[in-house]
Amino acid sequence: PAPSFLASALLNWYPRHRRDLPWRHTRNPYAIWLSEVILQQTRVAQGLPYYLDFLTSYPTVQDLAAAPEQEVLRHWQGLGYYSRARNMHHTAQQVVREFDGQFPSTYAGLRQLKGVGPYTAAAIASFAFDEAVAVLDGNVFRVLARIFGLHSDIAAPASRKEFQAVADQHLPPAHAAEFNQAIMEFGALQCTPLKPDCLFCPLQSQCWAFQHGQVTLLPVKAKA
Ligand code: ADE
Ligand code: SF4
Repeated sequence: PAPSFLASALLNWYPRHRRDLPWRHTRNPYAIWLSEVILQQTRVAQGLPYYLDFLTSYPTVQDLAAAPEQEVLRHWQGLGYYSRARNMHHTAQQVVREFDGQFPSTYAGLRQLKGVGPYTAAAIASFAFDEAVAVLDGNVFRVLARIFGLHSDIAAPASRKEFQAVADQHLPPAHAAEFNQAIMEFGALQCTPLKPDCLFCPLQSQCWAFQHGQVTLLPVKAKA
């Protein structure tokens, strides 16, 4: 099938705007997993030194699994949400014990790891193994809601299916990793929550929200 307008625009935009980040230079699933765990509730600038320190201190999943929990928590100090560090340590031990130290190489396999949810599994499967599965994080929900005029509440669990179907439909199978990085980076840098750069946006003419003057109304997120 012809590439979607969204894939064409994002794959053209991405190499001209992306930040040079170390986890974008690796296909090692362990390193990618580390980066995603660290970045889940942490800004890139804050998480970056922790990513580098963890890879230096624990170069392999075996090293991390074998480390004392107190030592892992010391390396995590300052990042907050310490349950993330404990869960990370447990997942490393599960990979070593149940998977012989090898991360599963598919989305379905990765989902068997405790503490690896849909987002992280899709990130590892696409970035490390080029599986054609779209990632959905806050950035992706926002970009899709605006471009396609999707008004479902992104905080409602039922919305995930709708957004996942749209994302998967536009993901080019031969460029899964790049498309996923690109749509997240586009949300982080161009189609931002508060002041998206619509005037210099390559998708402006195809963007439902821009065309309908509803950019600031999307995505819909019900208050908790
Ligand atoms: N936040 C979560 N994952 C990321 C990634 N791969 N690159 C940049 N920021 C991210
Ligand atoms: Fe996002 Fe604005 Fe571009 Fe639409 S026109 S994709 S709202 S930056």
